[in-house]
Amino acid sequence: MTARVALVGAGGHGLSHRRTLKDLAGRGVLEIAAFCDRGPVEPEPGVPFFDDHQKMLADVRPDAVIICTPPHTHLGIALDCLSAGADLLLEKPPVTTLAEHARLLEAASGRRVQVGFQALGSAALTAFRAAVPSGAALVSAAGAWWRPDTYYRRAPWAGKQAAFDGALVNPFAHALMQALAVADGFEPALMELERYRTRDIQTDDCTFMRLTDSDGRRVVAAVSLASVVFVAGEIRVGDAVLEYPTDRVRWPGASLYTEISGRIGLLGNLLSDEPLIVPLERTRTFTAVAEAIVASPPPATIHIDTPHPDGGGAILPGVDELVRQVAATGLLPSESDIPWAVPPHRVPMKEVTHAQTEHRRP
Ligand SMILES: NC(=O)c1ccc[n+]([C@@H]2O[C@H](COP(=O)([O-])OP(=O)(O)OC[C@H]3O[C@@H](n4cnc5c(N)ncnc54)[C@H](O)[C@@H]3O)[C@@H](O)[C@H]2O)c1
Repeated sequence: MTARVALVGAGGHGLSHRRTLKDLAGRGVLEIAAFCDRGPVEPEPGVPFFDDHQKMLADVRPDAVIICTPPHTHLGIALDCLSAGADLLLEKPPVTTLAEHARLLEAASGRRVQVGFQALGSAALTAFRAAVPSGAALVSAAGAWWRPDTYYRRAPWAGKQAAFDGALVNPFAHALMQALAVADGFEPALMELERYRTRDIQTDDCTFMRLTDSDGRRVVAAVSLASVVFVAGEIRVGDAVLEYPTDRVRWPGASLYTEISGRIGLLGNLLSDEPLIVPLERTRTFTAVAEAIVASPPPATIHIDTPHPDGGGAILPGVDELVRQVAATGLLPSESDIPWAVPPHRVPMKEVTHAQTEHRRP
C-alpha cells in the first residue's frame, strides 16, 4: 500500500520537503496526504491544507509526517503525531533537552522516527569513515559562512536562545553531528565552550567548542556566521577532510578533493523496510551537547565594524583562518592569543551521556 505522508511546517525549509514529496509521489513511492502550517503558504493543487496539526491528524490519519517547524515546537507536534500512529521525519535539531529526547524515545516505541540530518545518508561520509582511523585522538569540524543582519529577522525565533537558535545548534548542527558520527561512539566527559556574538542577538554566531572523553579523545568544533570568506563545512581527521555539504573528500596524504556523490534520502529510507539512517537514538549525544550549549552563560560580544563588501552587516576579519586553525590544533581562541577571546565555560558531561545508545560502525 502506498504510504500517505503529511508535512507540518510547509513554508521555510518545508519547501525543500515539498519538492521531495512531489518527486516521490511522482514516482509512486508515496501519496501526499496533507500540508499543515500556522502561516499562509503557497497551496499545492489537490493537497488538503490545515492550519492545525491536531485537526490534520484527525481528518487525514497519515502513515508518516514530516515535521519542519521551529525547533522548540518539535516535541509537542511529534508526540501528537506518534499518538495518531504516524512514523516521523523530524527536522534537526530534533528536541531541545535530553529529558525531551527520553520522552520522545519512549513515545516512539514501535514507530520509526528519523531525524533530518541528511548528510548522514551520504556515500562520502561512509567512505570517509572507512578511510580514517577509528578512535582518532582529534576529530574536528570547521565552517565559516556569511549571514547578513536580515538573517536574524528571518523568523520570530531567529537569534533567540530559548528557541534553540545559535551557530552550532542550528545552521552548523550538521557539522557537529557529522563530527560525532566520525568519532563513532564518542561519549564526552567535558565540554569547554567559547560562545561569541557579533550581532545584537541573544544567542551566538561564532562558536568554538572542545569535547573531551575519559580517554582524552577530543571532538572540536569551530564555526562562524560572520565570515567574508566561505568555508563550506569541513570534518577533519589528521590531514583528511570531509567537506560534508558538498560530499567532497580529501583522502589522507592527498592534496586534492574527490567528489563522492550519492545520498540515501531520509524520507525514502523512512518509508522503506531498511534500518533507519538517523534513528532518534543516534542523535542522543548531539542533543546532550546542544542542551549544554544552550544552557551555558550568554555569549561574549565581539565588537566588529568592518563592513561586508556587499553590505548587509559587518564581518569578523580572519575568522575563516581561525576556525581552520582551531580545528587543526584543537586549541580554543582563548588559548591562541586572540584579543577578543574569553576563557571557556566548562561543563562536566559524564552524567548526561552515561546511558547513551551507541551507533557502531556497520
Ligand atoms: N535539514 C536541514 O538542512 C535544515 C535546513 C533548514 C532548516 N532546518 C530545520 O527545519 C526546521 C524549520 O526551520 P525553518 O528555517 O523552515 O523555519 P521557518 O520559521 O522559516 O519555517 C517554519 C514553518 O513552520 C510553520 N509553523 C511554525 N509553528 C507551527 C505549528 N505549530 N504548526 C504548523 N506550522 C508551524 C511556520 O509558519 C513556518 O512556515 C527547524 O528545525 C530547522 O532547524 C533544517
